[in-house]
Amino acid sequence: MNHRSSLWLLILLMVNGVWLGSAQLPFPGKCPDVKVVDTFDVEAYLGVWYEYSKYPFAFEIGKKCIYANYGLIDNSTVSVVNAAINRFTGLPSNVTGKAKLIAPGQLAVAFYPGQSLTKANYLVLGTDYESYAVVYSCTSLTPLANFKVVWILTRQREPSVETIEAAKKILDENKISQAFLIDTLQKNCPQLEGNGTELAGGDEIDLDDFVTTVVPNAIEKA
Ligand SMILES: *[C@@H]1O[C@H](CO)[C@@H](O)[C@H](O)[C@H]1NC(C)=O
Ligand SMILES: *[C@@H]1O[C@H](CO)[C@@H](O)[C@H](O)[C@H]1NC(C)=O
Ligand SMILES: *[C@@H]1O[C@H](CO)[C@@H](O)[C@H](O)[C@H]1NC(C)=O
Repeated sequence: MNHRSSLWLLILLMVNGVWLGSAQLPFPGKCPDVKVVDTFDVEAYLGVWYEYSKYPFAFEIGKKCIYANYGLIDNSTVSVVNAAINRFTGLPSNVTGKAKLIAPGQLAVAFYPGQSLTKANYLVLGTDYESYAVVYSCTSLTPLANFKVVWILTRQREPSVETIEAAKKILDENKISQAFLIDTLQKNCPQLEGNGTELAGGDEIDLDDFVTTVVPNAIEKA
């Protein structure tokens, strides 16, 4: 492990210990410009998307098998279920929310009652609807710092190399660093019906996966 890796391990531990539940990584400067899709077919976007990778990594570090399921409420409102399995207990959990389509590819997602649905916090930078979606969120509270979340979502739990290349191309086009992307564990997961209903349980506790995969990945990529 080189010096830089040790530093990142330290940061990883700090972030994990101190910021658990804080969703976003800080970066210097204002939110950079990104290119959101020009046209967006919300109906084609509905259904199950598996989280292939995302940053920041700290937010859902104890979770695996993460997916989102989007359903239509009306022509500009989408229901959101984000579900995951706790890697240590094997127990499923989910949060439900709503998203309002504000402009093509720009959604305001909220998980709490009363949370405003007016500011886009979920930007679709690219999707082919059938294999991948690249989603981005950035907030700059001051001109000095911005907080980003980036997701690669895939229709298949274990997508092809080509699918991931297509998604990463979108990141490159937007000059979004891949250095902070951490792959989400999608092994030994419950199988889902097309509509998101669970078919069968995956397996139980997966501490080994966590120790052998996630931590080295995080360090390697940092
Ligand atoms: C969405 O629905 C509203 C009323 O339900 C309607 O006025 C509007 O034209 C619809 N928009 C589209 C794009 O279909
Ligand atoms: C979400 O969790 C609730 C229990 O908290 C459960 O009844 C429901 O089936 C879950 N939904 C999904 C889609 O996993
Ligand atoms: C999901 O689909 C399965 C069959 O494909 C069906 O049995 C189940 O009722 C559906 N669940 C929901 C919530 O629509």
